[in-house]
Amino acid sequence: MGVERTFVMLKPSCVQRGFVGEVISRFERKGLRILQLRVEKLSREKAEKLYKIHEGKPFYPDLIRAVSGKTVVLMVLEGREAINVVRRLIGATDPAKAEAGTIRGDLALDITDNLIHASDSPESYEREHSIFFDEEELETY
Ligand code: CMP
Repeated sequence: MGVERTFVMLKPSCVQRGFVGEVISRFERKGLRILQLRVEKLSREKAEKLYKIHEGKPFYPDLIRAVSGKTVVLMVLEGREAINVVRRLIGATDPAKAEAGTIRGDLALDITDNLIHASDSPESYEREHSIFFDEEELETY
């Protein structure tokens, strides 16, 4: 697999706990390029769009409540096999099961409030990044 892009959202707890720099640093040290980076107060409408595939699941209302109306950091990252590489750096969805050394393994414990979201497939990337960024906004270097 070649160079890919992935969408990442640092969730409100990541911002509130002051881990933005540490998390971005892990991505940069791995060699991923930041094509776009923005701080935004996440509207409920965009939160519902982002998590549409989870609508109806038991954890959905708590998930939407945890992120809506709060400050998040939105990013597009690029690099070799970026989607899988970022998911491995982040660790398992449930931070209690995430390996030590991963972002969730080291810094989180709660499953709803698991610090960070990243695309899980090229299709998710296409859908998710287009909620927040225009294609022409993506820098290359
Ligand atoms: P994220 O990678 O943002 O994608 C969906 C989110 O739903 C997930 O991280 C968690 O924050 C949240 N969530 C809460 N409970 C669960 C669960 N049991 N399984 C999967 N995701 C969950």
